[in-house]
Amino acid sequence: MSVETVLVTGASSGIGRELARRFAADGSRLILVARKGDALEELAAELRKAHKIQSQVFTADLALPETPARLLAHLQAAGVKVDVLVNNAGFGAHGRFAELPLQRQLDMLQVNVTALTHLTRLMLPGMIERHHGGILNVASTAAFQPGPGMAVYFATKAYVLSFTEALAEELAGTGLTVSALCPGPTATNFGAAAGGRFRPLAKRASMSAESVARAGHRAFRSGRCIAIPGLGNRLLAFSIRLFPRAAVRKITKRLNAACPD
Ligand SMILES: NC(=O)c1ccc[n+]([C@@H]2O[C@H](COP(=O)([O-])OP(=O)(O)OC[C@H]3O[C@@H](n4cnc5c(N)ncnc54)[C@H](OP(=O)(O)O)[C@@H]3O)[C@@H](O)[C@H]2O)c1
Repeated sequence: MSVETVLVTGASSGIGRELARRFAADGSRLILVARKGDALEELAAELRKAHKIQSQVFTADLALPETPARLLAHLQAAGVKVDVLVNNAGFGAHGRFAELPLQRQLDMLQVNVTALTHLTRLMLPGMIERHHGGILNVASTAAFQPGPGMAVYFATKAYVLSFTEALAEELAGTGLTVSALCPGPTATNFGAAAGGRFRPLAKRASMSAESVARAGHRAFRSGRCIAIPGLGNRLLAFSIRLFPRAAVRKITKRLNAACPD
């Protein structure tokens, strides 16, 4: 079989960069996508050197609705077929829905939900035809409950988890794998980009991007649908089901309350 091609969105930092490193260690060819072209080029060079693989960069803004189609056209022109799509690019915003800028929240929907769905729809038919590959979507433990104080972000991740589980079931028996990686607090640029400070509790409980990526990569390779890295995060995701939903909303609101700088 020819060398597997893995496309990772949001590969310029954090969990996406570590996921790219994991797939490169498998010997896969990498397509790295994000806005920060320099960071992508640096990673591509590192992966080529460390693993003797091919790695290419596509610098693009996934908040632009035309990006997924542009990306597919670019791949087709280069004769590249994607075997594994890692939808990792995403961001959050701390604050009340009515007070956060509208455009920032619409961009969040576009990156976290629409681009992820669009890329999946563009690349899945080829995978089904070849009976090989799959999708690894990066959701969050935020997917398991509503998130007052980060309302749109939590809702986007609930979508990602629900979509991934449904897709996994639709594709059962096709030879494809569809997985959702649901990290809890992870030490990346996410907190700074979201505009809030990491709360002391979240900071203490945070995992490294490397260990989160290892868990996601392992789950995908073993065909598992949902991966929640870290025992504490797994217990939290499970215990939420035991509490009344009204109580869960209130607790999450307190946890999401922005810290003054
Ligand atoms: N860190 C956490 O605590 C945590 C917890 C649960 C889930 N997650 C999820 O993990 C994923 C990765 O986040 P991270 O923690 O690794 O944060 P990060 O270090 O900020 O990485 C986010 C990545 O997404 C890319 N991205 C953001 N907006 C983009 C856009 N408009 N177009 C293209 N790429 C874009 C960024 O690249 P550019 O800036 O170069 O475009 C970057 O590579 C996200 O989906 C996030 O929701 C994170």
